[in-house]
Amino acid sequence: MQCKENKKEILTETQTTILEKKLIINKSEFGKMPDGTIVEQYKLTNKNSIEVDIITYGGRITSLKVPNKRGDIENVVLGFDNLNDYLNENPYFGALIGRYGNRIANGKFTLEGNEYTLAINNGSNHLHGGLVGFDSVVWDAEPIEGTDNTALKLTYLSKDREEGYPGNLKVTVIYTLSNDNTLEVSYKATTNKTTVVNLTQHAYFNLTGDFSKDILNHDLVLNADAFLPVDSGLIPTGEIRNVKGSPFDFTSVKKIGKEIEADNEQLKLGGGYDHCWVLNGKKGNMRFVASAYDETSGRFMEVFSEEPGMQLYTGNFLDGSLPIPNGGTYNKRTGFCLETQHYPDSPNQKEFPTTTLKPGEIYSTKTTYKFSTK
Ligand code: BGC
Repeated sequence: MQCKENKKEILTETQTTILEKKLIINKSEFGKMPDGTIVEQYKLTNKNSIEVDIITYGGRITSLKVPNKRGDIENVVLGFDNLNDYLNENPYFGALIGRYGNRIANGKFTLEGNEYTLAINNGSNHLHGGLVGFDSVVWDAEPIEGTDNTALKLTYLSKDREEGYPGNLKVTVIYTLSNDNTLEVSYKATTNKTTVVNLTQHAYFNLTGDFSKDILNHDLVLNADAFLPVDSGLIPTGEIRNVKGSPFDFTSVKKIGKEIEADNEQLKLGGGYDHCWVLNGKKGNMRFVASAYDETSGRFMEVFSEEPGMQLYTGNFLDGSLPIPNGGTYNKRTGFCLETQHYPDSPNQKEFPTTTLKPGEIYSTKTTYKFSTK
């Protein structure tokens, strides 16, 4: 009896090891682009059954499954289950954003005396890299298996004058899922002509795991004493405004929905939160920047970043026109984005931290999302 029990245990252990190895990274075909290019999907799994699915189209996270406090594993990012829905217009679900996260006023900037004109795709402005940004191109992918983590390396060459930007920009983004339940996104880029770069990740989170619910009950903390007020085109005015005493103050725990409908000129302009917060601490240093908690599921997410800013976007423009894979539609405020980045419109605002990248320099930045329950 004793012997049988032991044998069973050993067998289970061996099976687990095999299972872990097999599950660690799994590749499948997600669909085909109109020109026939195959879009692959990679599934990264850690030992605690956290699973992240990433497709080569836009380097998009299509699903991120994490346990709730009862151990139920559910998807916490908005997405689709087929390529067509991603090819149809959608607000950057799960996508990598580049060359420039957020808006550049009138799609124009001057660098080293040359004026550049970018694609205009948001009113009179340039948004998230233009008409075909990094969210809408197919990246090359290479899985990397580590001892305590598993990663997917994505690379893309953005050619000189793509969407109007100068220089051939070589970009590498690595998604790393670790056994300590963190998902790290690390970005690197080099150029052969002076250009601007501001990369970010556009996942929409809903920690309830139930996309029929909105995100207004999430408890949010932002490590930021100031934010950037915007004009009617959502371009920062240049002012850096203290959040104290305003609906923009998330320096201690507050529900996203608590003041989102307050009578506030900035909230009206954004239709809710759609602003860049000026993060505390030194840019370039990895530090705590935000946390979100959903009491019903117990899911807790902490965000750490090297970036100086973070756009909180509360899904104000979601309007029930896009399908949820299991049924229903994504309604207003069913997701929130925490887009760690440099400030919008920096190429035109000399007081903001620079987004200029010169030949010989390496653009390098990291953001980490850590999941737990409480
Ligand atoms: C922007 C919003 C925009 C959304 C989706 C966010 O990063 O700040 O204004 O609507 O992305 O496109």
